Amino acid sequence: MALPLAVLVSGGGSNLQSIIDRIEEGSLDAEVRLVISNKAGAYGITRARNNGIPTKVMSHKDYASREAFDRDMVAAMREHGVTAPEGAVVMAGFMRIVTPELLDAFPDRVVNIHPALLPSFPGIHGQGDAAEYGVRISGCTVHFVDEKMDNGPIIIQAAVPVQAGEDGDSLGPRILKLEHRILPQALQWLAEERLTVDGRHVHVKVGPKPLAAQPRADSEPSAPALVWPPLEEGF
Ligand code: GRF
Repeated sequence: MALPLAVLVSGGGSNLQSIIDRIEEGSLDAEVRLVISNKAGAYGITRARNNGIPTKVMSHKDYASREAFDRDMVAAMREHGVTAPEGAVVMAGFMRIVTPELLDAFPDRVVNIHPALLPSFPGIHGQGDAAEYGVRISGCTVHFVDEKMDNGPIIIQAAVPVQAGEDGDSLGPRILKLEHRILPQALQWLAEERLTVDGRHVHVKVGPKPLAAQPRADSEPSAPALVWPPLEEGF
């Protein structure tokens, strides 16, 4: 069975789009059953609708607590057939901290994409904070989610060089292109049940596919990226 997914967004939803595209291409064996946004105007919701995916807009302002909000999200996911242990939840630009109401319903099945090399530069301005700090390498991280912000066990990271004088606006798009590759890859490993969490460590079982990352037509040809574990064919 294709991995049932609920995808949580707050904004543009380009990471959601990367999931939809890889599913359509056949490299990601998943089905997005529901897209939830906490922002009514999020373009991610439009992307979902354009692809015939059920959507739900839930303003966190209508809830007395984070727990109550998460409880309603879990209920909506259940209604759409996204439950543990088969299903998984993707925080794809979802700007909310989640609680045990969600995490306990999906043990080791909630993943987040963050636009920096964690544990450096957590928070909502990862790209800009890294550029301002003057780091020479930044990147992005897909990790399992726990109760702390941008904190759980790391599944995959990709690194990009940072030029002196860059800011978040110039660095962000280069990082985003890699987000669009490592997030679907991490989800495919989850779909193939190849991820084991051991404390802070995530083991990726070597799979049947060759560990050979081919540059994608839409990726930066001039910026060789270090991605570890390596991307597999199709990502
Ligand atoms: C991405 O950079 C993601 O890492 C961060 O928010 C951004 C969302 O982009 N958490 P999009 O909505 O997927 O286009």
